[in-house]
Amino acid sequence: MPQPTPAPPPPEHVAIIMDGNGRWATNRGWPRLVGHRKGAERVKQIVSAAPEMGIKWLTVYAFSTENWKRSTEEVLGIMSIFARYIQREADRLASEGVRLRFIGDRSRLDPKLQRLMSGIEERTAGFSRLNLTVAINYGGRDEILRAARALAQEVADGRLAPCDITEAAMAERLDTRGIPDPDLIIRTSGETRTSNFLVWQAAYGEYEFTSTLWPDFSPDELAAILVRFGNRQRRFGGVTPK
Ligand code: FPP
Repeated sequence: MPQPTPAPPPPEHVAIIMDGNGRWATNRGWPRLVGHRKGAERVKQIVSAAPEMGIKWLTVYAFSTENWKRSTEEVLGIMSIFARYIQREADRLASEGVRLRFIGDRSRLDPKLQRLMSGIEERTAGFSRLNLTVAINYGGRDEILRAARALAQEVADGRLAPCDITEAAMAERLDTRGIPDPDLIIRTSGETRTSNFLVWQAAYGEYEFTSTLWPDFSPDELAAILVRFGNRQRRFGGVTPK
């Protein structure tokens, strides 16, 4: 009897550019912050659904180094949604075995928020059912610059030789040290830009763009995207095996 073809493996690491919160709210005549609140609800739902889909690593882009250009009201609103998420979700994340990490430059964030972030990182450090990474005040170029400065300092101090600056040495100094590169990067809302997200890490990532606005992005749509991903052939610069 012919054996059924095994399902292709799911991507181990999915990264998401959660775009379209503002338009989702504006389309309904509501303030943009309502869209961000709804967006945070979606984060919870996708985080709960991801491990059942075989996803081990999930990275979401919550606030970019460019997002400071928004109105003070919107910036403070996003920061407070974010702080509430950490406070209210801590127990659930722990009970679901989720390890939470943050990437981005924390130094510009409110010290109280920085303490909340470090606290939940420590509290969830022993979990591994899902590794959730939230990018906040994150920019790929900024991350690479900070890593380059760290390498330059080590060379200047005589602790590192220039010939030891390898891809691995660079990766070790990025915010994502210890996190595998994303296999699949999804952007919602119909925009087809990569917007400074995981610039180094996404070198061989597959991209999926959907017109769905983030507050409408459901676990079912994620599952459909994973099926499409499974049908792609990833060659990493090589040739397709016969
Ligand atoms: C993009 O939509 C969304 C953001 C810049 C903020 C994302 C923040 C959250 C989902 C809430 C907090 C995050 C977590 C992890 C709980 P946009 O405002 O750019 O939408 P637009 O393009 O329609 O204006």
